[in-house]
Amino acid sequence: MEDQATELKEIMKQRGNGAQNSARPAGHKTRIIAITSGKGGVGKTNIAVNMAIAYAQLGKKVILIDADLGMANVNVLLNIVPNANLLHVINQQRKMSEIVLETDYGIKFIAGANGFSRIANLNEKELQYFVEEFLTLSNADIIIIDTAAGISNNVLSFVAAADEVFVITTPEPTAITDAYGIIKIIATELHNTNISMKLLVNRVQSADEGRKISDRIINIAAQFLNHKVDYLGFIYDDPAVTASVIRQKPWLVASPSAKPSLCIKHIVGRIEKTDFIEEEGLGRFLRRFRKKGR
Ligand SMILES: Nc1ncnc2c1ncn2[C@@H]1O[C@H](COP(=O)(O)OP(=O)(O)OP(=O)(O)O)[C@@H](O)[C@H]1O
Ligand SMILES: [Mg+2]
Repeated sequence: MEDQATELKEIMKQRGNGAQNSARPAGHKTRIIAITSGKGGVGKTNIAVNMAIAYAQLGKKVILIDADLGMANVNVLLNIVPNANLLHVINQQRKMSEIVLETDYGIKFIAGANGFSRIANLNEKELQYFVEEFLTLSNADIIIIDTAAGISNNVLSFVAAADEVFVITTPEPTAITDAYGIIKIIATELHNTNISMKLLVNRVQSADEGRKISDRIINIAAQFLNHKVDYLGFIYDDPAVTASVIRQKPWLVASPSAKPSLCIKHIVGRIEKTDFIEEEGLGRFLRRFRKKGR
């Protein structure tokens, strides 16, 4: 695994390194956020989609990647049907530009693929093709990755490769326990020890409820894992969410003044105020992805 990471680094260098990709102005950074949870059904996909749109509304270039390979939830929420995915690029059947879909909401969308972890086993030539294609995404300001719940290898690969991971929970006791479980795994088992973890409490009845739940999880993580987790914020439980899922129109657009929409705008505003460390462009994402080696 270490060898593969070195080999990838070499390819990056030869390509002039991801950060200095020719299409990219100097000083440009791409923030990569993975959205995950311990328990399923806590609102990850809704948050990924609407957060992406909220970013786009700030004038940012946003790419949303659906890495929940089994369910393809994002397609449903955005009411689009991709006919190609990342695996086609890995297999050199498509160029990246051919699988990036435009949406009605100012964000771009890429369907993930079962077998994305195949990039760990590509030979040098195949890897070069993929790296070059992947680096064309360096123009984005933000890449948001919606993962499946739980601790599958695929989820952890994406999480390990991101700059930041947003862990979603709800007030349900089982969701809280599982949120702690995934935080523990991220904190203890991944190579990317610099990863910044932030907690978002979805479906709360009050701001106070969100704060209390996050305090509990954050304190336990500090005490038992010695890992800092930040509180990102909360989203109200609100019928506007369910209604928008049924209409297949994101709630930020369908109900812009509903409580969840105001919450997500507030959260995005806060994230924008925090800086993140980007050392070597998008190349680091692939390198970390291949290095994770659980
Ligand atoms: N803030 C909210 N208010 C009301 N209902 C919500 C809220 N957030 C999520 N839901 C409900 O929870 C359902 C599941 O949400 P979503 O599909 O985003 O979860 P998920 O974590 O991505 O699930 P999975 O683990 O299956 O991928 C939604 O269809 C919606 O009905
Ligand atoms: Mg989902």
